[in-house]
Amino acid sequence: MKPVELNAARRRLSACHDVFELRAAARRRIPRPVFDYVDGAADEEVSMRANLRAFRRHRFQPRAVAEVTAIDTSARVLGRDVPLPLVLAPTGYTRMMHPDGEVGAARAAERHGLPYTLSTMATTSIEQVAATARPDLWFQLYIQKDPGFTKELVTRAATAGYRVLVITIDTLVTGHRTRDERNGLTIPPALTVSTIATIGAKPGYWLRMLTSEAIDFANFTETAEGLTIARTGQMFNPSVGWDDIAALRDQWSGPLILKGPVSPADARRAVSLGVDGFQLSNHGGRQLDRTIAPVDLIAPVREAVGPDVSVLVDSGVRHGADIAVALALGADAAAIGRAYLYGLMVGGEAGADKVIDVLEDQFIRTLNLLGVHSAAELRSLGTSVLADGGS
Ligand SMILES: Cc1cc2nc3c(=O)[nH]c(=O)nc-3n(C[C@H](O)[C@H](O)[C@H](O)COP(=O)(O)O)c2cc1C
Repeated sequence: MKPVELNAARRRLSACHDVFELRAAARRRIPRPVFDYVDGAADEEVSMRANLRAFRRHRFQPRAVAEVTAIDTSARVLGRDVPLPLVLAPTGYTRMMHPDGEVGAARAAERHGLPYTLSTMATTSIEQVAATARPDLWFQLYIQKDPGFTKELVTRAATAGYRVLVITIDTLVTGHRTRDERNGLTIPPALTVSTIATIGAKPGYWLRMLTSEAIDFANFTETAEGLTIARTGQMFNPSVGWDDIAALRDQWSGPLILKGPVSPADARRAVSLGVDGFQLSNHGGRQLDRTIAPVDLIAPVREAVGPDVSVLVDSGVRHGADIAVALALGADAAAIGRAYLYGLMVGGEAGADKVIDVLEDQFIRTLNLLGVHSAAELRSLGTSVLADGGS
């Protein structure tokens, strides 16, 4: 049975030519509440739409007659060389999208030599991901109310060989996800009348889910029984302070970055505490709606922290040209959330693979047409390749 399904998935994947086509394919195949959980954002979804627009607002100014032959897309991200300036961002509850889940995404990252970030809210544990996939592993931390549990999560990540600690600072409380509320989505999903109704409409999804391991919050081993996303959300510390960041800096010996819509002033303060960098992010518009588009924070944060601090950006990356814009504005790399989840929903691990291939291909073509030889050259040319000078 499985090879047939795999071929069907591959056929579906080969019919998709960019991230938007993968999104459309996922929408057709995945039950509405699950698709909306991925695709939706907070409140009026102003931030989410603005994130995409902010990348697309910039216009390129190509260099003429630049003698481009081969393109070198490699970059250095938090002290390690990567073949492409791209990182897979943390996403909670990934096995709800496809049973391949976190391991499938991590294996796709590994195959491409890219970092994969495991979420605190993962459905595969810190240890299991590290045992089954070996990309450059990063661990995303939600600071918990219980300092002992926070410490334990960080110790487990270090012991399992995760290299980078990513502290998410925009989720003191969970954002209000209107679509989830409308759809009555509970996590874990409960069998309600409407869930049962979608089984008939999307049998492939349900067959996969019912024949794979039950989903749970795998990192909450002690208390996993009966945990819902609402209850785990209440375990997050709503009053994280700079002392907490300093304590984690003391505990974690590897690179440590903050993930959120960090202002230039806050970035300076964080650097003074020994933070190594930032993943500028508004959680894909899933937390505070109407938050500044992270792409617009790249230049001011870069100016505030100087050239040696790592600056990554996510929220709105759907095309290789977005990676080019991010680098031109001063970022070291871009990260993707929904993009790889759309792929995963359509074709599991092979779908996540496909998304990375598509973005890589688009990035290479963008550099080629820009008249730029490498990702490093794009970084040094900076906003001179943007017709608006980055403003
Ligand atoms: C379904 C889903 C789950 C997410 N879960 C987490 C999480 O557990 N921790 C976290 O820091 N960010 C989480 N994020 C945010 C992503 O890490 C990333 O910031 C965001 O997806 C970037 O925007 P994009 O989807 O437009 O690429 C999640 C995003 C999605 C779409």
